[in-house]
Amino acid sequence: MEIKEEVGVARGLTNYGDRGFALYLRRSFIKSMGYSGDILKKPVVGIASSPSGFNNCHRAMPELVEAVKRGVLAAGALPIDFPTISLGEVFLNPTSLMFRNLMSMDVEEMVRAQPMDAVVMIGGCDKTVPAQLMGAASANIPAIQLVTGPMMTGRHKGQRLGACTDCRGFWARFRAGKIEREEIDEVEGKLATTAGTCAVMGTASTMACIAEALGMSLPGSAAIPAVHADRLRAAEASGTLAARMALGQARALRPDEVITPKSVENALRVLLALGGSTNAIIHLTAVAGRLNIPVSLQRLNEISDTTPVLVNLKPTGENYMEDFFAAGGMSALLRELKPLLHLDTVSVTGETLGERLAAEAGEWVDHKIVRPAADPIEPVGGLVALFGSLAPRGAILKRSAADSTLFEKEGRVVLFTSLEDLSQRIDDPELDVTADDFLVLQNAGPTSRSGMPEAGYLPIPIKLAQAGVRDMVRISDARMSGTAFGTIVLHVTPETAAGGPLALVRNGDRIRLSVLNRRLDLLVDDAELARRKETVLSSRPHVPRGYAKLYQDHVLQADEGCDFDFLRGASAG
Ligand code: FES
Repeated sequence: MEIKEEVGVARGLTNYGDRGFALYLRRSFIKSMGYSGDILKKPVVGIASSPSGFNNCHRAMPELVEAVKRGVLAAGALPIDFPTISLGEVFLNPTSLMFRNLMSMDVEEMVRAQPMDAVVMIGGCDKTVPAQLMGAASANIPAIQLVTGPMMTGRHKGQRLGACTDCRGFWARFRAGKIEREEIDEVEGKLATTAGTCAVMGTASTMACIAEALGMSLPGSAAIPAVHADRLRAAEASGTLAARMALGQARALRPDEVITPKSVENALRVLLALGGSTNAIIHLTAVAGRLNIPVSLQRLNEISDTTPVLVNLKPTGENYMEDFFAAGGMSALLRELKPLLHLDTVSVTGETLGERLAAEAGEWVDHKIVRPAADPIEPVGGLVALFGSLAPRGAILKRSAADSTLFEKEGRVVLFTSLEDLSQRIDDPELDVTADDFLVLQNAGPTSRSGMPEAGYLPIPIKLAQAGVRDMVRISDARMSGTAFGTIVLHVTPETAAGGPLALVRNGDRIRLSVLNRRLDLLVDDAELARRKETVLSSRPHVPRGYAKLYQDHVLQADEGCDFDFLRGASAG
């Protein structure tokens, strides 16, 4: 049997010092899986999948794999699926972000090491899509991102429920004594009722939209619900396109031809217009960083000032991903943003964004969900970066999900030095705290013991919650779930454990927040800060071995996407 070298299973032979033997041995072994000689002549489309019993969001993935395979086979190529690790957001300790880079390495190395001419990557839960995009960017073979899609909503006493903005809303009411234990137990079973990712514009949904805005997914595929038949059709179409790329029937665009400075800027616009997750700025920075494309927070602010929030979804608005899909989804949003976008960017289909939008012109839109650019929810973007003496390299505030009456404010610091300290004291009846204070959390950044958890949504102290306080200024070097809301300043950089100014904050200090001026300042004089600096001990944990050591030794700060220093930059493949 003749197999053309460097195509399909003949690509990237195992090194035995004898290429003929290596090919003969590979063919022998793959034939044990029942393949015929004819089908082994075909180009291969790899399918990177990540189902796991520890990942509810990927529950429907096996069905998606079958649909991708159907598309590949029908187009005349050979589909071969393979597993990578899976990151189920709520199952990982200390936090899923810590393992995003591990998954990206798994994807990159398995895509590069195994014989495939193109790859379809199937992800969904928060960190999986960024990990796959990072890995694909580094491996740099033709790649298509497919997402599992969002969950449908549930119902409780006539109210629609969706993970996980409503999880937090109900928990806050429970903490404030507004509902009983019996009801919170009942709600627990109604928040996440189908396969798929969180039902609101959280991190998973934001990253699905960003993947499409970058051009890495099929047009119109980001918002299709996980259980909708269109989701399977999108999977089949992804397989078909990947096969056509592998067969030379479609342009075999590599990630570095799709992810460009212009498409990254388009993705930033989309993030801001969605009122999307704060986590997405970290992930987009990491994906772009793999291709040497910088994402500056100063540029984020410039773009934010000229990008309206248009999508009325929780946690910024009122609706759910199934509504966004029914309203017209990403196509509707991109059409509204058209004057602000780079239209000459190209997607995996080979079509430019301008060509796509021209073809979709006139399609129906529900403007209650995707507002016209002329009548936005907010005239400026959902995220803003703050700089100042407390955050020399920046911090992020999701202003679209915050209380604007707290935007220009000076407050007294109520300090928590760690997550443990926070959980021990936040509900202490003796805690000296008022609604005008700023809750500040240290030691929750990328190199802290907790690995930058989604702990920036500090709970309102229970005595204030019970008195009706719904929001306070909260500041930390942590992240926040994309499904959360409040006046919450995140990603303070450099972080506490890296010796940033946050490490010098003391209980009772004063901080000034000005969203108008993009400022976050610690109001302590320089002499006092210098004195404190001499007494501050490093809180960076000592990690002796394993992946945790690799992470600790190489993870970058939030403004560099929390990637590993040795993974940034152009592909070595
Ligand atoms: Fe997986 Fe929310 S827990 S997307």
